[in-house]
Amino acid sequence: MNPLELSRRSSASFYHLTDVSLEGCVCQGLACFAARADNPQRWQQARANAPAVYCLGQCHHAPAAFADDADVAIGVHSSAAVLLGNLVQGGARDIAIYRERGGGKAMRLALATYPGKVIAELEASGLRGRGGAGFPASTKWRAVASATAPQKYLVVNADEGDPGSFSDRLLLENDPFRLIEACVIAAHATGASHGIIYLRKEYPAARSVLENAMAQAREAGWLGQGVLGSTLDFDLGIHIGQGSYVCGEETSLLNSLEGRRPEVRLRPPQITEHGLHGQPTLVNNVETLCSVPWIIENGGERYAAIGIGKSRGTKLLSLNSLFNRPGLYEVDFGISLRDIIEEIGGGLRWGQLKGVMIGGPLAGLVPPALLDTALGYEELQTIGAAVGHGGVIAFADDTAIAEIVAEVFRFGAQESCGKCTPCHLGSPELATSFNALLAGEKMPASRWHDLIDALEATSLCGHGRGLAEFARAIERHYPEELAQCFA
Ligand SMILES: Cc1cc2nc3c(=O)[nH]c(=O)nc-3n(C[C@H](O)[C@H](O)[C@H](O)COP(=O)(O)O)c2cc1C
Ligand code: SF4
Repeated sequence: MNPLELSRRSSASFYHLTDVSLEGCVCQGLACFAARADNPQRWQQARANAPAVYCLGQCHHAPAAFADDADVAIGVHSSAAVLLGNLVQGGARDIAIYRERGGGKAMRLALATYPGKVIAELEASGLRGRGGAGFPASTKWRAVASATAPQKYLVVNADEGDPGSFSDRLLLENDPFRLIEACVIAAHATGASHGIIYLRKEYPAARSVLENAMAQAREAGWLGQGVLGSTLDFDLGIHIGQGSYVCGEETSLLNSLEGRRPEVRLRPPQITEHGLHGQPTLVNNVETLCSVPWIIENGGERYAAIGIGKSRGTKLLSLNSLFNRPGLYEVDFGISLRDIIEEIGGGLRWGQLKGVMIGGPLAGLVPPALLDTALGYEELQTIGAAVGHGGVIAFADDTAIAEIVAEVFRFGAQESCGKCTPCHLGSPELATSFNALLAGEKMPASRWHDLIDALEATSLCGHGRGLAEFARAIERHYPEELAQCFA
């Protein structure tokens, strides 16, 4: 059997949700764990759910079940409504409504100018990728634009796997034309003629909204041959994931699209040169792309005028159900964590704040003493935290640090792609050891240090490295509670 065929056959065992119906599934994500006291019975169901489901993107009313579809608060607290303008008006699932509110203007402006000018505007904006890594968007766009190849691809990362985040879900379900418009602009700028939205299976409502919007966009000449009478030929399709967090990592995602076992790829080559099917590929997150129409319409400089340091523009934050005002909020970079938690979130519904997990489990837990830190990539990095995907999970003091560590490593173990031994075997060992701690068994401190050092040093991707960063943040901010875990 050739290696490609072998990879295809072994990929079936990789996913958690192939041929699994999500009906009746209850979520085991970290926001649901943080809120388990609100519905202990449901949390027990989540624990018993086989396979484990992380996360349904309903963290605003956790613990959540698949069909809940609860109402969610949406608010703009930023200097400009770059992303949530349509959502606060009830969404725009009809192209006529999107147009009435000015939608489509940025695409026309972009198509009327040359690709280099579009990329220069993006560069002036300082927009960084919102999927987690914070890489400058214009650098990737320029790399794909300057590559010469018979075919180039655009891939929209709509896998939103970070437990605690539901921003992409709400953008997709309520403002699909903003994403389509951004894709057309990106295709014009880079030369991509085919786009694929990689959407997680856990978001079926987003799928039907997108399919409907794409049909309307084709009808209106926004997609297809000669977009809006221009020379651009560009169309979009959807690929549905089968339940795997690591498939959100862009090289794993490309392997998944190619039908291979979705392990993380070694780099170089960079995917801007050698991506999907070996062709230059632009992979961007939903929120990153959805920021583009505003930038093209209002100018990169106006966008760059918002923010702090190297973190420009606005950011979406998903606040979990422990807040008095859980929901999706748009804020300026530079806002303090305290303002997010106290002013926007309205503080906690019960107990005292133990810590806040920003940007998902692959980042640090921020203790109450550091809440005056500003929201920004570098600013959070200095305290061992990350902007990540903008999930904000508050933990109350009813949760012990050992429990949070056990949950994070349980998630890490379930989602490891298995390529690096410390991630593949170390994560389950840490999850088991911290679970045993809850029953009174302590672990040797040296074993913790060995495993975290190995994770940090040898992980090929941000999954293992992020788990190590989370562990370092616990060592740094909760040393006394951690010390109690060791024999
Ligand atoms: C384990 C892992 C999971 C990831 N999951 C996602 C995800 O669900 N959505 C996403 O947009 N990016 C995710 N990323 C980041 C992507 O690899 C990539 O950086 C991103 O899609 C690039 O788009 P951006 O530059 O617009 O952020 C993940 C990264 C890692 C290491
Ligand atoms: S760190 Fe973990 S998820 Fe990432 S490549 Fe290694 S084994 Fe796979």
